[in-house]
Amino acid sequence: MTIRVAVAGAAGRMGQAVVAAVEGADDMELTGRADPALGTALADVLGDADVVVDFTRPDTALDNARQCLAAGVHVVIGTTGFDLDALHDAAAASDANAFVAPNFAISAVLMMRFAAEASQHMAAAEIVELHHDAKLDAPSGTAARTAAQMQGEVPIHSVRLPGLVAHQEVIFGDVGQSLTIRQDSYSRESFMPGVLIAVRRVGELETSPLVGLEHLLF
Ligand SMILES: NC(=O)c1ccc[n+]([C@@H]2O[C@H](COP(=O)([O-])OP(=O)(O)OC[C@H]3O[C@@H](n4cnc5c(N)ncnc54)[C@H](O)[C@@H]3O)[C@@H](O)[C@H]2O)c1
Repeated sequence: MTIRVAVAGAAGRMGQAVVAAVEGADDMELTGRADPALGTALADVLGDADVVVDFTRPDTALDNARQCLAAGVHVVIGTTGFDLDALHDAAAASDANAFVAPNFAISAVLMMRFAAEASQHMAAAEIVELHHDAKLDAPSGTAARTAAQMQGEVPIHSVRLPGLVAHQEVIFGDVGQSLTIRQDSYSRESFMPGVLIAVRRVGELETSPLVGLEHLLF
């Protein structure tokens, strides 16, 4: 069965990549592109969609997700920097599901998993996350989620520079030794396989909202 997909933030950096990925997927049909930059509101595309993929802004993602859930449309959220807890009531009241991932790149999911394991054995750790200079939130959602999965207090340092996409180092220290786990997304295509997996699976979740691509991979 073809999944009808609308993209919120379709004119943005991530949104354009999602539009191309959905158009390239045999089992999906792109039915809407919502973005103020395109003159199309989310409400205008909800009627034709089974799933909305949201890559917008920290201050709009929550309202967009609530609109989707109220309309009975599943939502896959990649936007970072918004209050996840505020999604629970809307998700509980809806038959539709919400899936959220701060990072859809498989290498980032592995980095978080390995960092969580290493933190059980090393004395201390700090995170350095590096992103392009147009990123609105700091620290990144990925860094915050990495730290949340590790033991102890983990300081996060944020770097914003032109030319970067999305990168992170988790540096561990212990007596006479260190360990560095590094992940790099060099292009936005790195996130697309994970986004398509989430679009295919969001309708069958047993928990909503579900946070983290690892739940769909492992
Ligand atoms: N989860 C991941 O793997 C991942 C990866 C990269 C980026 N991100 C996150 O995705 C988000 C988008 O990043 P970006 O670089 O594409 O930003 P961007 O600024 O290039 O694009 C955002 C787009 O959203 C549009 N927009 C604003 N309000 C809207 C609304 N109410 N409805 C629909 N569209 C609206 C804007 O006009 C813009 O075109 C950020 O929060 C970023 O941190 C997540």
